[in-house]
Amino acid sequence: MKTFYRTHTCGELRLTHQNETVTLCGWIQRIRELKGQNFIDLRDRYGITQLVFSPQYHQELYEKSKHLQRETVIQITGKVIERFSKNLLLPTGEIEIIVQDLTVLNTAKTPPFLIENETDGSEELRMQYRYLDIRRPVLRDNLILRHKFTQAVRNYMDSQGFIEIETPVLIKSTPEGARDFVVPSRMNKGQFYALPQSPQTFKQLLMVAGMDKYFQIVKCFRDEDLRADRQPEFTQIDCEMSFVHQEDVLQTFEGLVKHLFKTLKGIEIPDLPRMTYDEAIRNYGTDKPDLRFDMKFTELNEVAKGHGFSVFDSAELVVGICAKGAGNFTRKQIDYLTNFVKKPQIGASGLVHARIESDGSIKSSVDKFYSPEQLLKWKEKCKAEPGDLILILSGNADKVRKQLSELRLEVAAQLGLRDKDKYACLWVVDFPLLEWNEEDKRWYAMHHPFTSPKKEDIHLLGVDNARVRANAYDLVINGVEIGGGSVRIHDRRLQSKMFEVLGLSQQEAEHKFGFLMNAFEYGAPPHAGCAFGLDRWVMLFAGADSIREVMAFPKNNMGRDVMIDAPSTIDDSLMQELGIQIQVEKE
Ligand code: AMO
Repeated sequence: MKTFYRTHTCGELRLTHQNETVTLCGWIQRIRELKGQNFIDLRDRYGITQLVFSPQYHQELYEKSKHLQRETVIQITGKVIERFSKNLLLPTGEIEIIVQDLTVLNTAKTPPFLIENETDGSEELRMQYRYLDIRRPVLRDNLILRHKFTQAVRNYMDSQGFIEIETPVLIKSTPEGARDFVVPSRMNKGQFYALPQSPQTFKQLLMVAGMDKYFQIVKCFRDEDLRADRQPEFTQIDCEMSFVHQEDVLQTFEGLVKHLFKTLKGIEIPDLPRMTYDEAIRNYGTDKPDLRFDMKFTELNEVAKGHGFSVFDSAELVVGICAKGAGNFTRKQIDYLTNFVKKPQIGASGLVHARIESDGSIKSSVDKFYSPEQLLKWKEKCKAEPGDLILILSGNADKVRKQLSELRLEVAAQLGLRDKDKYACLWVVDFPLLEWNEEDKRWYAMHHPFTSPKKEDIHLLGVDNARVRANAYDLVINGVEIGGGSVRIHDRRLQSKMFEVLGLSQQEAEHKFGFLMNAFEYGAPPHAGCAFGLDRWVMLFAGADSIREVMAFPKNNMGRDVMIDAPSTIDDSLMQELGIQIQVEKE
């Protein structure tokens, strides 16, 4: 009996191993019969090695190999030889193994989908058999990348003196703006823990405790509507530092950004540009602009209003983008863009366009309202050149900026400007502290209630809330919000004031956050921090379209794990023990 399962992995053997006798284990990826021989691709995490079963070498094994099936787990021993027809796309493609011994370690049912990068399985089916999906090289490589990513994060944070500290998962609600997932307590019937939306309050308490530099790679839970870059449980790189200003935080984490790009992508990125929230909104209509391409907004009120075109005349803002080289867009493409902005999710009522002809003249979809000279002013303002296309929206300023921001991304996608191998990072700074919610008729913290207003704006708190800016910042890469953070309030009185502005009564504030406010009375140092969405960041580095592709066992877009079938009902006895009664409404 062999004392080992394998001598090598399936990704390891090269010409230098020629004539060696080796033992490999793995899954059968593919079986091909060719010229009276059986060729099997054997796969494990490390790669694929070609096995040869030939009657010329071993009649009995050759016969046995005819009954093998895809995904069967086997162990083989054989001799490494040079391949006659080499496959240079495969690292092991110069050799093959003449099999001399075969053990079937486990049989496998026919998998429900092709276990290859180009698979025929729907996402739902693949999620149901996630363990088979992870056998596909893309997913395997994404998980390996994720591992390397977390290692690189830990190395950098350690090198900067940060200490990784675990914080509890059964806690009290943390206000990050989403709903909490709750866990009933058996020992305290009728009471619930909340799962952390982030370790925000704990990391602040660790600063009061004097830990100075904290980080954690940590699971967070948020019960919110799901999107391609959102999951109900996801991972943050959560960080906090004491005795620092905003600038120290930005510098420290710019270092992390550079380290990760260098280590994982081999890219030296330049210093990160900074943009204020106001600039971002005015120029790109979003607080997470994709700067892989320019296409800044141009405000056109001055040249577009007052010429009898009522749509523009009645609008608060007329604003456009100049799509370089898109002047040759066909009627169909323009119609597509028009329908795109009219979709209910975008909500524009129409799209005006103007092409710059090769002779420099400009032709618009609203020519009857404007003279050629007036139109040339549009061209001038938008810095448009022959071959460009100007696209214009109008309406309520806030709404129209959001709509144009979506259109900008769509046009960029059509022009191939959203290249996954190109990266544009930036800090967005000076966020407003508060935002007004028209539905609830109250102010909400834009980041979270522990964020400090800018010193020079503190006097406006409670007086002119809309104008209070925060010491808050976001890291944006390729139009994705990768992380965010802020300088924190560390003064009990200011924290109470903030709760008051947010409409929390003193009792409520005491009930929810008394522990934090009390801690502030025992020598809280000035502190600041941030958190990055690890899944989102790995998704970008992997070039994936959804964070599900970089998570081992994600939930589907209904928040379900279809493999283990969760969430699910629990036994009545457990419900009773927890003191929970569910009343099912009869239809
Ligand atoms: P914030 O709420 O901005 O800040 O979260 C930080 C980052 O976490 C990622 N993220 C998510 N990723 C996947 N799925 C989700 N549902 C999800 N929600 C958020 C984003 C986001 O930028 N405590 C503060 C940080 C701080 O102030 O230090 C916080 O959690 O990439």
